[in-house]
Amino acid sequence: MPSNNELRSRATDYGLGPLIMPYIGIDFGTSNSVAANFQYGHAEVLHNHEGQKWTPSVVTLRRDGTLAFGQEAKENFDEQRSIRSVKRILGTPERVPLVGQNLRTEQIAVMLFSLLKRDAEKALGESFTKGVVTIPANSKGLARHATKLCAGAAGLQVLTLINEPTAAAICYGINAQDEQRVLVYDFGGGTLDVTILRIHHGIFEEISSKGVGKLGGDDLDLALAKVLAERFQQKNGYDILNSPYKQQFMLAVEKAKIDLSTEPITVARKAELVPERHLSLEEEIDRPTFERAIMPLIQQSGAALDEAMKLRNLRPKDIDKVLLVGGTSKIPIVQRYVTEKMAGKEPEPFDKVDPMTCVAQGAAIVSAILQGAPGLDNYAYSVKLEHSLCANPINEHRQVYLDPIVKRGSDIPCSFTKTYYPVADPAERVIISVFEGDEYHQPDNAENVKLAEIPWEFTPPRSQRDGALDVTFEYGDDGILTVQIEDTHAKHKKRFPIQQASEDQMDAAQVIKMKRINEELIARSADLESTSEYKEALEVIKKTEQDVIPKVERDEDRRELEELCRQVRLAMGSGDKKKMESASAELNDRLLNYAYLL
Ligand SMILES: Nc1ncnc2c1ncn2[C@@H]1O[C@H](COP(=O)(O)OP(=O)(O)OP(=O)(O)O)[C@@H](O)[C@H]1O
Ligand SMILES: [Mg+2]
Repeated sequence: MPSNNELRSRATDYGLGPLIMPYIGIDFGTSNSVAANFQYGHAEVLHNHEGQKWTPSVVTLRRDGTLAFGQEAKENFDEQRSIRSVKRILGTPERVPLVGQNLRTEQIAVMLFSLLKRDAEKALGESFTKGVVTIPANSKGLARHATKLCAGAAGLQVLTLINEPTAAAICYGINAQDEQRVLVYDFGGGTLDVTILRIHHGIFEEISSKGVGKLGGDDLDLALAKVLAERFQQKNGYDILNSPYKQQFMLAVEKAKIDLSTEPITVARKAELVPERHLSLEEEIDRPTFERAIMPLIQQSGAALDEAMKLRNLRPKDIDKVLLVGGTSKIPIVQRYVTEKMAGKEPEPFDKVDPMTCVAQGAAIVSAILQGAPGLDNYAYSVKLEHSLCANPINEHRQVYLDPIVKRGSDIPCSFTKTYYPVADPAERVIISVFEGDEYHQPDNAENVKLAEIPWEFTPPRSQRDGALDVTFEYGDDGILTVQIEDTHAKHKKRFPIQQASEDQMDAAQVIKMKRINEELIARSADLESTSEYKEALEVIKKTEQDVIPKVERDEDRRELEELCRQVRLAMGSGDKKKMESASAELNDRLLNYAYLL
């Protein structure tokens, strides 16, 4: 049977349109990333190279200099050799250390996008170059630009950037034609965001949003870790949270937390946690104890919800639908708490929509809408600008203020022009600063972000009367701003794409260099991943996790298999083929006991 690529090129030869094309959506998450493809009227999640639906946004440099990505990288996490949560600082000048080098956040993001794309292409069996990428509702200009730039450098042209809550609403099948108000409660790994959308005539408009930058599953892990670490200390006289084994301990804690979403009681377990003292972790924990430990954090999320409602004077009865998004929303007490806060209004059920993958699925639907996929006639999709884009003129009292050229709430794409005159007479030079923000009378307010400073020279110096500058802001579908300045007297104009405000701006040459380094690293990693030892290790893990563990009845047996999988991943993370071989063999041996399940 010919591949999609072949069919498509044949169709093009005969002047036909595309047959089946991939309509890709990517949720680039702080903790986990997900890729989805819209096909046959449905957004399918694409499994990654480890056979999982979501991929921890973690990279770890293996000892042999190759790169591990996803669960393997997470389980082999090492402060010096691993990077995670890069999304939180993307678009800032902050650097991330990796084996003694200080890397730009963009470099890691390009790496993550390249790896996500590679996995998605493997799952699809064909390559793609375009897609829709999601971004937090509260992100401002630089993060948006950086996300697009990094996806582009990884070979993924971003058709549009859409906000995560909007993507979630689309995936929940919220019909954009009916006028309704939807509250999206997104409780992920590192952040909590409550967003209220008004949906009408095909427009998804964010009318209120409240985020808590540092509240997520990681904090819940820490709350549970404290309970378990105290018991561990009492039993063994060992302070695990301040030890080199903290990371392994936290993985066991997170696993116990996830188990408690479906089981009333579980055991946090890790054999030989402290090898030199032969200390193992084996602590029973029940749901009520866990719930008590996390309650203060859940209440903080409630305060954000209250605030998002208060910003618009909304009451629970004003909300038509409540959507739960993010892994932490799977915790039963979180669902009960939100229901209570919303005066008994039940959130939309999880049986059709997975809160871990719905953002990527919504993005895939938008990707299909934008590329004219058949069967999506009921959907319209458009967005409004969330923050005003301003220049900073001086008022009659000689005070600098922000003057919105494109007002918040404008439809995208859009273009607006305002005319400004120099204050000095004659004037030699002016500086036009470009801001994103809504605090017009306090330019220094931290909520306003300076996107660029554009110097403009008048040669020769110009009188005030003849110094008119037409300043045009164009905001594109892709969330990127271009500023055009026109000196009307001299009939001279220039366009400035707004990229990064810092001096640290990345130029095209740097992007190319970064791309080359990444490609080399990924190619080198591909060599290891094509060895028979690595492939065998991956296969045996997939078989165990997908086909065996879900069918094994006894908890103890399940845990034993999980631990063996972990050992295989640790061996993969070492890059040592002999270790991989023996760890896989051990797991394979154990699987013989379950041959009847396969
Ligand atoms: N079944 C579950 N029960 C409880 N917690 C879970 C469950 N599944 C995943 N989690 C937690 O959800 C978190 C990850 O959620 P998610 O993947 O939605 O985050 P993210 O989108 O990457 O992060 P953010 O929204 O902060 O950018 C982790 O803390 C993980 O432990
Ligand atoms: Mg998320």
